[in-house]
Amino acid sequence: MEKQECIATKYSERYTLIGEDGKPTNKEVEHELKTVTKVPKLGFMIVGLGGENGTTVTAGILANQKKLKWLSKRGEAQAGYYGSFTQCVTTKVGLKAKKLETGDFKIEDVHMAIKDLLPMVNPNDLVIGGWDINNANMYEACLKAHVLEPDMIRQLEPELKAMTPLTAAFCVPYVAPAQLERANNIKKGTNKELVAQLREDISNFKKKNKLDKILVLWTSNTEKYYDNTIESIPELEKLIETNASLPASVLYVVAALKEKAIFINGSSQNTLHTAVLKLAEKEGVPVGGSDVKTGQTKYKTAMADFLIGSGLRCASVVSYNHVGTSDAKNLADPMTFKSKEISRGMVLDDSIKSNPVLYPPGEDKIDHIVVIKYCPFVGDSKRAIDEYTSEIFLQGHNTIMTYNVCETSLLAAPLLIDVCILAELMTRISIDSKPMGPALSYLSYFFKAPSTNHSEYILNSFTRQMKALTSLLKACAGYAPDDATLLSFNY
Ligand SMILES: NC(=O)c1ccc[n+]([C@@H]2O[C@H](COP(=O)([O-])OP(=O)(O)OC[C@H]3O[C@@H](n4cnc5c(N)ncnc54)[C@H](O)[C@@H]3O)[C@@H](O)[C@H]2O)c1
Repeated sequence: MEKQECIATKYSERYTLIGEDGKPTNKEVEHELKTVTKVPKLGFMIVGLGGENGTTVTAGILANQKKLKWLSKRGEAQAGYYGSFTQCVTTKVGLKAKKLETGDFKIEDVHMAIKDLLPMVNPNDLVIGGWDINNANMYEACLKAHVLEPDMIRQLEPELKAMTPLTAAFCVPYVAPAQLERANNIKKGTNKELVAQLREDISNFKKKNKLDKILVLWTSNTEKYYDNTIESIPELEKLIETNASLPASVLYVVAALKEKAIFINGSSQNTLHTAVLKLAEKEGVPVGGSDVKTGQTKYKTAMADFLIGSGLRCASVVSYNHVGTSDAKNLADPMTFKSKEISRGMVLDDSIKSNPVLYPPGEDKIDHIVVIKYCPFVGDSKRAIDEYTSEIFLQGHNTIMTYNVCETSLLAAPLLIDVCILAELMTRISIDSKPMGPALSYLSYFFKAPSTNHSEYILNSFTRQMKALTSLLKACAGYAPDDATLLSFNY
C-alpha cells in the first residue's frame, strides 16, 4: 500500500477512575492520532433523492457551487451554509497575547472554523446521485417538494433536469400505504438480486464519476420498525439468501458496505442491527446513525442540560408538532410512527442518569410524551410546541413552553451534508493505529438515537456530544481541547 501523508499528533487523555470503594485514581493515557491529509473525490448517494431532504441537499449544493442569488419575497437571497456544523461553527483553539499601545498585553481567545481544523471535503465538491421510488427528475422533484424558492429552482433548471434518480429497492410491508401511490421507479427481484443491483449502481456511479469514495445516506421515508434484531452476519446473509421479508434499508446498507461505501441512517427505523455493525467491521468501512437531530429534539437535549444543570428536577416533557411533509403523512401510520417514537424516546436518558440527586433509583423516570400530526397545509414549515415542567425549590413547579416554527428540510440539509463530510473524514482518522468504527460514535451530535461502539455509553446531551466531537477534531489537529478551568487567569 502506498504511504499516505498524515497529520500525526499525540494526545494525553486524562480521566478519573472511581474504585469500588469510591476512591478516585487519576489516569493519563497517551494516544497517537493520525489523519490522512489527502481529501478524496467523494460521491454522495442519497436514498430518497427526490424527497424534501434529498432535493434540498442537491439544489443547495448546486446553488453554492454557482454562488447563486435569487429573488425571494424578503428580497435578494444568496447561497451559503448557515446551519452547517462544519461550515459555520467555530471552536476556541487557543489564546493570543495582543500587545496594546500602552505596552501591556491583553489576552484574547482565538477561534477557528471547524472546516479549517483538518483537511475535509468541501461540500461544493460532493458528487450527488441516488435512488428514489419516484422517477421525477430533480427539477420536478424540487417543484413538488415546496421547500425552495421558485426563482432558485428556475435558475438551476438545466442541472436539475439532467439528474434523475436510479430505480429503487422497495419493500412494501415496511412502508405506510401512503407511499405506494408515488412508487413508479422500482427494481424487481429477490433480496439477493436487489442487493446485487444496488451494488452495481454504487460501483457504476463510482466509475462514471471517477470517485475515490462513496457515502450512502438513507434519507428516505421512515420504515416500519423491524421487530427482530439481526445479530450475526450468517443470520443476515440467510435472511437475504432465503428472500425473507426485510426492510429496504437493510438491503441498501448491505450493498453499501459490500461496495466499501460508508452508510449513514438518517431516519429512525432500526437499520443498524448488530449484524450490520459486524458486517461494517468485517468490510472495514463504518456506519453512522440514526435519525437526524435537527430542531425540536436538538433543542430538547440542550434544554435538558440547562434544566438539570440548574438543579431543577425536569419531571415532564410533552412534545407536539404538526408538519405537512410527505414523511409526516408516512408517519401518520402507527406502524412507522413506532420507529420515530422509539428514536425520540431515549434522548433524555443520559441527562437523567447523570444526576442521581434529582433522579435517585426508582425515581428516574419522567413523563416524556411525543405527538406528531400531519397537517398538509403547513407544508415543510413545522410547528413544534414543547412543554417542560420541573420541580423546583420547596416542591414548586416551573413550566417553560417553547414554540418553534421552522422550515424543517432547510434545517436538516446542512446537517446531512455535515454528516457526509465528517463521516468521510473519520475514515481517514486512526486512534492508536486503529480505524474508527464500526459505528461512528462521534457523530452522535447529529442523531436522535446515536449508534455507538459501547451500547452502555450513549451520549444524548447536546453539550457533551458537541464537546466530544470538537475535542476529537482539535486533538487530531494538534490543539488542546478546551481545559475550561481558567486557572491561569483566576478570573
Ligand atoms: N426534515 C427533517 O427535519 C428530518 C429530521 C429527522 C429525520 N428526518 C427523516 O428523513 C427522512 C426523509 O425526510 P423527507 O422530509 O425528505 O421525506 P420525503 O417523504 O419528502 O422524502 C422521502 C423520499 O424517499 C423516497 N423513498 C421512499 N422509499 C424509498 C426507497 N425504498 N428507496 C428510495 N427512495 C425511497 C420517497 O419517494 C421520497 O421521495 C424521513 O425518514 C424523516 O423522518 C427528517
